[in-house]
Amino acid sequence: MKVVTTYIILFFSVLIVSCGGVPEEKSESAGEEKVFAVDEVLEMVSKENDVTRTLYTKAIVGKGKLQGMKFDEDWRKDDVEAGPLPALFLRGVASSIRKGPVPLGLYLGSDFPVNAANKFEGKQADLFQKIKKDQKPEFFYDEEQKLHTAMFADLASADACVTCHNKHPQTTKTDWKLGDVMGATTWQYPKDSLTYKETVAVLNAYAKGTVDIYMAYLDEVEDFKTSEKPEIGNKWPEEGKYLPTAEVFLDSVKKLSSYETMKHLMVSK
Ligand code: HEC
Repeated sequence: MKVVTTYIILFFSVLIVSCGGVPEEKSESAGEEKVFAVDEVLEMVSKENDVTRTLYTKAIVGKGKLQGMKFDEDWRKDDVEAGPLPALFLRGVASSIRKGPVPLGLYLGSDFPVNAANKFEGKQADLFQKIKKDQKPEFFYDEEQKLHTAMFADLASADACVTCHNKHPQTTKTDWKLGDVMGATTWQYPKDSLTYKETVAVLNAYAKGTVDIYMAYLDEVEDFKTSEKPEIGNKWPEEGKYLPTAEVFLDSVKKLSSYETMKHLMVSK
């Protein structure tokens, strides 16, 4: 009897191993294969960024301003009660990524920047002139930094981009128009190909960066002393003095972007 029980137990453990363990191991090793070219991954994350940035600019900054909400480059200062401008939202994402384990670099530059620190230099400045003409992405290997680099046009996709830049006291150009290539996002990664896992890690690092900076904005709002605090929940500024929670915000980003990204991940795998 004892022997039979032992056999039964053994049989089931083998079953468990062959049903759960082995396929798991198979997908593990498949995950180690180099499946994505770096250019492809940088293009994917840049698409996620386009959607996030447009959503933030139009639905939060654009609509929020109509409700009297303020957005400022000095939003982090104690005496300024405001949210981050779109470019600073992006910089927030970039610095959150930098603090994490994924070696992904992100930078927003221009040839006529508001902030002199954002002026393209060297090879990136040359390539940006091309991007301005054909709006096509540029990919190259940066020998000095030893980084694979991709640059994507950053278009004036909302009226808010144009008005704010043209009127800014430090602007170096006052005639931006809707649809202009105002700058480019530069993305960098050290390796020429990524496993499936590394690819997902890049996309997750970007999404986490978005949540981090958005939460920092909501924290700032909670600390408002003199300004009216928008109600944080599942409503958007379009409906009144409201701000979506980080979860609601990220959910919208995912709805708008992930279908394309998913399709990409599935096909390439
Ligand atoms: C309310 C004002 C405001 C709005 C709206 C705005 N920007 Fe900016 N933008 C700025 C400021 C200020 C900076 C500089 C931030 C910094 O210190 O890096 C900046 C930086 C940039 C840069 C980096 C180069 C530079 O000028 O320093 C680009 C490119 C850019 N913005 C494009 C856009 C686009 C495209 C949009 C719309 C999707 C947009 N901006 C919306 C104010 C604004």
